[in-house]
Amino acid sequence: MPSSILVTGATGRLGQLVTRRLIYSGDRVRVLTRRPDEAKRLFSGAVDIAQGDFGDRSSLMTALNGVERVFLLSPISANLGAHQTALIDAAVDAGVRHIVKISGSTWTIEHSDRSTAGAQHRKVEAHLAARGLSHAIIRPNAWMQVSLAPVIAAALAGRDLPGRYAGAAVSFININDIADVAARVLHSGLNVSEPLVLTGAKAFTTSDIAGLVSAILRRPVGIDTQAVAVSPGHDDAFAAQAVREFGALIAEGLAAPVTDTVERMLGRRPVSLRHVLEQALMPSKRNAETG
Ligand SMILES: NC(=O)c1ccc[n+]([C@@H]2O[C@H](COP(=O)([O-])OP(=O)(O)OC[C@H]3O[C@@H](n4cnc5c(N)ncnc54)[C@H](OP(=O)(O)O)[C@@H]3O)[C@@H](O)[C@H]2O)c1
Repeated sequence: MPSSILVTGATGRLGQLVTRRLIYSGDRVRVLTRRPDEAKRLFSGAVDIAQGDFGDRSSLMTALNGVERVFLLSPISANLGAHQTALIDAAVDAGVRHIVKISGSTWTIEHSDRSTAGAQHRKVEAHLAARGLSHAIIRPNAWMQVSLAPVIAAALAGRDLPGRYAGAAVSFININDIADVAARVLHSGLNVSEPLVLTGAKAFTTSDIAGLVSAILRRPVGIDTQAVAVSPGHDDAFAAQAVREFGALIAEGLAAPVTDTVERMLGRRPVSLRHVLEQALMPSKRNAETG
């Protein structure tokens, strides 16, 4: 029986992918957004649109009316903790049965004394547990499509790749793998006691990535240690500070460990970094995928 699922963050990078998967599975989906026109553009008539804001409780109560499960995502900001705990409280009051939360990378939460974003996510995780609602927490590692955007931009422009993280390796995760796991957990309503820590199958240094890019583009590719890498979507002061803290933690090798969670949850290997780079760097591959 299709359930009624409220997706928050549905107009953003990950939420869009999760929403499309739920629609495809036949779930009844409602999206919470401050921008109904954007939701209409993205999903046409396939979802119910609830105009609202995490900061406006009455809009949350209206959006949650009749909802069984919630996908909880909000951007890195000083309000993340307050916004997400407000949504959880409203969900409990509205009789929601299950919440799937996109949390921070596990190393930001385990080192939340040095990560302001990790501290906010940690607070929300604790609140979710304290409210006693069935839930699942997803802690994805650094996303390929966000973390590697500056690398891909440099490669496409014919420049050397920005040197980052003091040569430390990262087991980047593909955003589509995160969406697949989230949709699976939402669709099934699985109550998961331990956080789902999602990583890619292997950790890569910038030097490993330069080797892959070089093989794909068939030209030498170097590393520019002076280049400043600007990741998309981190434009306010809080987010910029959070990203600087991520860089320091990653440079200690904390984002390198690999888990088998994607394989356990989906019965297949995580999408490889090489595949993502090929799609981004080779127009023929891109067209073949989208055509
Ligand atoms: N990138 C990574 O490597 C990484 C790793 C681990 C965890 N994460 C986590 O992933 C999350 C970011 O995901 P993303 O990049 O997919 O987000 P995003 O693209 O920045 O999208 C943000 C979404 O939040 C909604 N939103 C923002 N403020 C809102 C408000 N006041 N009320 C209602 N909705 C609001 C926006 O909807 P409207 O504008 O339509 O209202 C939009 O759909 C963060 O929590 C971050 O910690 C990211």
